[in-house]
Amino acid sequence: MTATPLPATTVCVFDAYGTLFDVAAAPRRWGNLLGDKATALAEAWRRKQLEYTWLRSLMGRYEDFWHVTGAALDHAFATLGLKDPALRARLMASYLELDAFPDARAALTRLKDAGRRTAILSNGAPSMLASLVSAAGITRLLDAVLSVDRLAVYKPHPSVYALVGERFACTPADVCFVSANGWDVAGANTFGFQTVWINRTDQPCEGLPGRPVATIASLDDLPALLGV
Ligand code: LAC
Repeated sequence: MTATPLPATTVCVFDAYGTLFDVAAAPRRWGNLLGDKATALAEAWRRKQLEYTWLRSLMGRYEDFWHVTGAALDHAFATLGLKDPALRARLMASYLELDAFPDARAALTRLKDAGRRTAILSNGAPSMLASLVSAAGITRLLDAVLSVDRLAVYKPHPSVYALVGERFACTPADVCFVSANGWDVAGANTFGFQTVWINRTDQPCEGLPGRPVATIASLDDLPALLGV
C-alpha cells in the first residue's frame, strides 16, 4: 500500500447512502412484490434521486431529501409502469431503516476505539438520518450527523463540505472523507479533504477533477489506511 497523508487526519467523515447504508435494501426487501422489476426500480430510483438533488441545487429550488426521494420514486414507478400506492408507501418507509453494510459498524468501532472523531455528512434530511443511525444501532459510534438541510443545497456544493470544519474546528486537510459515490469523492477532494473512495462494485473512476487519495473495495480496509 503506498503512503498517503491519511494517517495524519483527525476526523473521519462518511457519506451515508451507498457508503454506510445500502440503498438497494429497500427494493430488495419488497422484491417479492416488485418481481423482475426490482433491479430496474432500484437503479432508476437512485439515479433520479441524485439527478433531482443536482438539478434542484442548480435551479435554486431546494426541497429536502425525503421530498426528492419520493419524487424520484414516483418517476421510477411511472417509467416502469408500476402503480401500487401501498408498495410506494412501503418502499419509502424502508428508506428510513436501510440496512447498514456489514463492514460499516466494524470500521466505525475501530476508529472510535482509536480515538478518531467520526461523522456522517449527507444529503439526507435530519429526520431521515436520525432514523437510519438509530435503526442501525450506531449512534454512539458517531460524534456528529451533519445534513445539508440547513444550507438548502446538495452535495457536491462546496458549502456542504465546509460544515465539517465548522463542527469540528478543523482544516480540510485534517479530514478523511469516505464515500462510495465517485462524484462525492470528487467534490470533497476539490474542497480539500483527503478522500477515500469505497468502490464496492468495481466502477470506473469519474471523469471529474478530484481523484481519491485511496480506493478500497470494503470499509474493512479503512482502519489500516488511517494507521489505526
Ligand atoms: C448522501 C448521498 C449522496 O448520503 O449518498 O449524501
